[in-house]
Amino acid sequence: MSSACRVRKAVLPVAGMGTRFLPATKATPKEMLPIVDKPVIQYVVEEAVAAGLDDVLFVTGRAKRALEDHFDYNGELENMLEARNDLEKLSAVRGPAQLAQIHYARQGSPSGLGHAVLCAKAHVGDETFAVLLGDEIIPSENQVLDKMFKVLAKHGGSVLLLKRVPSDELSRYGVASVKPTDDENVVEVIDLVEKPDPAQAPSDLAVLGRYVLNPAIFEILETTKPGKGGEIQLTDAIQVLARGEFNASAGKVHGLIYDGERFDTGEILGYITTVIEFATRRADIGSDVKAWLQKFVQGL
Ligand code: G1P
Repeated sequence: MSSACRVRKAVLPVAGMGTRFLPATKATPKEMLPIVDKPVIQYVVEEAVAAGLDDVLFVTGRAKRALEDHFDYNGELENMLEARNDLEKLSAVRGPAQLAQIHYARQGSPSGLGHAVLCAKAHVGDETFAVLLGDEIIPSENQVLDKMFKVLAKHGGSVLLLKRVPSDELSRYGVASVKPTDDENVVEVIDLVEKPDPAQAPSDLAVLGRYVLNPAIFEILETTKPGKGGEIQLTDAIQVLARGEFNASAGKVHGLIYDGERFDTGEILGYITTVIEFATRRADIGSDVKAWLQKFVQGL
């Protein structure tokens, strides 16, 4: 792809109410919950930056203060660490502020993911952009965004990330109806349904929280009616593109089928298992955590 159409902007909707984690999320966004010692959202921003997305827009709602502070400098804390010559902590504290150009848009009311993405319209303008859901961690080394950009370079339009999931989990996701392409991991998405009843699901391909979207999505979202749960659903707007019901210049929708690691920290069990898994991988505490876990499991 030429640099003129390189994807530069990442939109991270972080305005959810985090009701599953109350009271922890009463005054803190759920994306700020730590995985060991780093908030979930920092992993997501690092993934975006690793894929060359140097312009990050958070669509925030209530309790955004902690998030803004995290991605800003903290002079007092930095001076204290500098005075102690604690360079490791100093770099950990400065890191988030230096990652990318961070911008904020406010989602006045929590009216759904589609509505959150529409709040990014003025910032994104007429460029193809990425959306990363702030409670899903996909380790950067899997390079899913880079792979999605390759699909975009070949097919244009918009690109989704799809994963095969067991049928009893399909009702938690957008689910895609697809046609094969010449590339075995790439499909054309011809229809989509948000959180279907498993019996009605068109396939076992769930939409994960990474999207590369043509800016035509904004015009569609402006007239998208509330769908599942009474919310304006991003899936419903992408469905219009997938069905070819919009201006052909917006292109088709393709899906990259991914079967690598993904950590869903948006629900309590997923959050706990992610913390444990990341703790076991740490160079400093990993072997102690594993030893403790083994003992703990034996005692169960
Ligand atoms: C959202 C989307 C859904 C998608 C999912 C991925 O749902 O609406 O289509 O499959 O993210 O995690 P949520 O998890 O916000 O309920």
